[in-house]
Amino acid sequence: MAPTIGIDLGTTYSVAAFVRAGRPVILPNAEGHTLTPSVVLLQDETEVLVGTDAKNSAAEAPDDCAQFAKRGMGDPSWRFFDSRGVQHTPEQLSAMILRKVAGDAGLELGETVTDVVITVPAYFGDPQRQATKDAARIAGLNVVRLINEPTAAAIAYGVEHGENGTYLVFDLGGGTFDVTILRVADTDFQVVGTDGDRNLGGYDFDNALCEHVVRLVAEAGGPDISEDPALLAPLREKCELAKRKLSTLGQTKIPVGVGGGRAMSIEVTRADFESITRPLLGRTELITDAVLDDAGMTWAQIDRILLVGGSTRMPMVRELIERMSGRAPEIGINPDEAVALGAAILADQEVSTMTGKLPELDKVVSIKDVTSQGLGTSALDNATNRMYNAIMIPPNTKIPARVEETFYTVVPNQRRLLVDITEGNDEDPEFVTKLLERELPLPAGLPDRAPLRHIMSFDIDGLVHLEIFDETNGKHLGEVELDRPSNLGEHKVEEMRVAMRRVEVG
Ligand SMILES: Nc1ncnc2c1ncn2[C@@H]1O[C@H](COP(=O)(O)OP(=O)(O)OP(=O)(O)O)[C@@H](O)[C@H]1O
Ligand SMILES: [Mg+2]
Repeated sequence: MAPTIGIDLGTTYSVAAFVRAGRPVILPNAEGHTLTPSVVLLQDETEVLVGTDAKNSAAEAPDDCAQFAKRGMGDPSWRFFDSRGVQHTPEQLSAMILRKVAGDAGLELGETVTDVVITVPAYFGDPQRQATKDAARIAGLNVVRLINEPTAAAIAYGVEHGENGTYLVFDLGGGTFDVTILRVADTDFQVVGTDGDRNLGGYDFDNALCEHVVRLVAEAGGPDISEDPALLAPLREKCELAKRKLSTLGQTKIPVGVGGGRAMSIEVTRADFESITRPLLGRTELITDAVLDDAGMTWAQIDRILLVGGSTRMPMVRELIERMSGRAPEIGINPDEAVALGAAILADQEVSTMTGKLPELDKVVSIKDVTSQGLGTSALDNATNRMYNAIMIPPNTKIPARVEETFYTVVPNQRRLLVDITEGNDEDPEFVTKLLERELPLPAGLPDRAPLRHIMSFDIDGLVHLEIFDETNGKHLGEVELDRPSNLGEHKVEEMRVAMRRVEVG
């Protein structure tokens, strides 16, 4: 039987793992590296390069080098235009990364990989999750399951160390931030709370440093390079490297090309870097506090703190955690690999569930995850005659979840119902995202205030479903087809899958 692997599809790096002889192991890529940069070089229409070679071309060929596509997942307007003017959706770019990672894993295993477990940030909503599934389909892969990144990391740690108790996973990666609290009892992983920011990661720290350097260049009498993409692209690379250096050194010099073959050297200290990025770190602190608060817990109830994601290597992150919790985080965890290893463990379990074969790993892990954001629908408040957002599935509800709530028609013989599904935690419709809006025909002859039962469910991949039941006639009006406006749709995905088969990914 073909292998099922785990893939951590990261904003900046992607990683593949597999359970072999009872242990999860990282599968190196064709270049022999454990991490594959999530960078795509769009050289020509039929040949793309993914990974280290693509990343190394970022400075020379910024116009053809697509990065951080994960940030665009679920955003229907996000496009990367290459130098030929061809546009690429985040799903297509992610598909190329998945092709490379799964393809290389197949080479390592000696068998073609088609079934995968993919990790997503816990704070990803329905559009981002659907986009991730679509990306896999475009790549010709079958997603056995999506799993939340912090949960995967906790599983990897818990299975290896066998430590029971309450874990707090602080995951600051390249593009996203998640905090998750889990109760771990042997092989049982129960998420009790989660929150995050899908637009907060190492990328933002690079940007802050980049802006700072641009300012210093101008102050030192150099040109304004913020308007020059040819100078900015190499600078952003150098800032990322400088940021890493500042995790071990107190200061570093950044060479900045200022045009005409000239360069300036800008010195940055760790203290400078920490001061310009303090607002970013502050956001992680607020979110961490909120997760504990929402779970009704204090630091005294947390037994283990797991730092996940490359950005937790910044000393200020560890200092923040120690200041907040009064304790040191665990050390026996690799911040780059834990998520993929956890995905591999889940892949192994899924195979055993599908085939009835015993898992390679001699334990059966049970995961109970929760929703990260509220889900609801717009409803009319009779008292005020105003629309409000009725939250049906609040955040931190155990998944899979199924909730029923009855809403009423507003006029006699109402023939249409405007249904929608919202994502967000606010009662004000202004502050939530509409996942879908659709006009549903209603049968003739319904009385005034006819009850319509809304059955909303949330599956284990974190995707939403809605059914409507007409209580007057005792009839199901069917599952509302989610034509997710933020996503590509069946037809487009299929078209892209066929087109992708003609592309060579190396
Ligand atoms: N020593 C270091 N000091 C500071 N930052 C680092 C260090 N090493 C790696 N990073 C940063 O970590 C980030 C990559 O981390 P990681 O691979 O965990 O993210 P990812 O999985 O790609 O992103 P995400 O999980 O957000 O989608 C990059 O922004 C990188 O610059
Ligand atoms: Mg990650």
